[in-house]
Amino acid sequence: MASAKSRFMEWVDARFPATELWEGHLSKYYAPKNFNFWYFFGSLALLVLVNQIVTGIFLATAYKPDANLAFASVEYIMRDVEWGWLLRYMHSTGASAFFVVVYLHMFRGLMYGSYRSPRELVWLIGMLIYLGLMAEAFFGYLLPWGQMSYWGAQVITSLFGAIPVIGPGLAEWIRGDFVISDATLNRFFSFHIILVPILLLGLVVVHIMALHHVGSNNPDGIEIKKNKDENGVPLDGIPFHPYYTVKDIMGAVAFMFLFAVVVFYFPEMGGKFLEYPNFEPANPLKTPEHIAPVWYFTPYYAILRAIPDKFLGVVAMGAAVLIFMALPWLDRSPVKSIRYKGPLFKLALALFAVAFLILGYLGMLPPTPARTLVARICTVIYFAFFVLMPLYSKIDKTKPVPERVT
Ligand code: HEM
Repeated sequence: MASAKSRFMEWVDARFPATELWEGHLSKYYAPKNFNFWYFFGSLALLVLVNQIVTGIFLATAYKPDANLAFASVEYIMRDVEWGWLLRYMHSTGASAFFVVVYLHMFRGLMYGSYRSPRELVWLIGMLIYLGLMAEAFFGYLLPWGQMSYWGAQVITSLFGAIPVIGPGLAEWIRGDFVISDATLNRFFSFHIILVPILLLGLVVVHIMALHHVGSNNPDGIEIKKNKDENGVPLDGIPFHPYYTVKDIMGAVAFMFLFAVVVFYFPEMGGKFLEYPNFEPANPLKTPEHIAPVWYFTPYYAILRAIPDKFLGVVAMGAAVLIFMALPWLDRSPVKSIRYKGPLFKLALALFAVAFLILGYLGMLPPTPARTLVARICTVIYFAFFVLMPLYSKIDKTKPVPERVT
């Protein structure tokens, strides 16, 4: 039997590099032996991606991308389609879970300097994935055709109108109309279920290929490829399979438990995952009292509102996202990991994280003069983290990095 199996694999390998791929990416891919909690989130992001694609395919079998039918078709999925409520709640909860997981995944990168040489491309491709995710969430949010879907899309598309000269034409081109309409719904549906998922899948493959080419970073920020045994195997590495497949399965089980608690008991999450005004059908003649994006966009929304000029606000909002791409070239510290960085970096990262959370909270609330002031202070802290990094990362007092993983 065993020889029949190996003969079959020989036949396959002569035609397709199955064993080569298995060994190169799993059984003989040597990952640092000191991965911790923070290294769960890459595989969890993959899990959520699969969840979104599978539930999305089934939702699309009953959803109608038509301004007259969309809202009712979602209600039909919730009430009449067998297990439709579960598919929809898994998909809507998955959208928020995606951002939770990706924000933690990115924060790990900030802590351990995973964006630094030789992983600049892993980071940049990650940033393209992040932009893709934002687009995917934005397009998807229009589909239920509720009040918040409609007015949220109206606000965001009209931001493009603030760009000098080409703005108004650009906003109209994106919407396919002067306002959000059936034409917009049709194209957003197409982008949400075909264009962006294909881009995301391709980018995730490239992300992992780039990572496996240079090898994973770790909580010590030590390059394990620098210490190899006589067979060229990193001394501080262990084969990804079975060691990290088992570790990741444990993370996946814990994650799915929390995910199920949300899906079955708190699918609306108090209006944070599914906003209450979106239970009312879109009405182009009635603007909701308070328009706020879903929680994962609110830090950027708060930055937009903190700047008095609309166009400069749009620029600041865009810059707040794109500035992450410059990180590999802003960090001048001689060490990668926060474990060996000095007090200045630790303070800067803590202030940045707190400012990001406060901005996220403020972005959910209607603005008042006091809130706008706080948002402005947090916006300054947010940008200072990046802009001052070349300075504080250079003068910071670092600790010596050990030769080997601790
Ligand atoms: C769909 C979204 C994403 C998926 C499926 C994904 C997947 C993965 C996987 C499986 C790993 C290896 C395991 C791990 O280190 O946790 C990884 C590593 C990494 N990812 Fe992502 N990722 C995503 C988004 C992002 C984003 C948005 C960024 C940053 C902008 C990013 C930056 C990185 C970096 C720097 C590493 C290397 C970390 C290290 O070695 O310390 N990823 N990613």
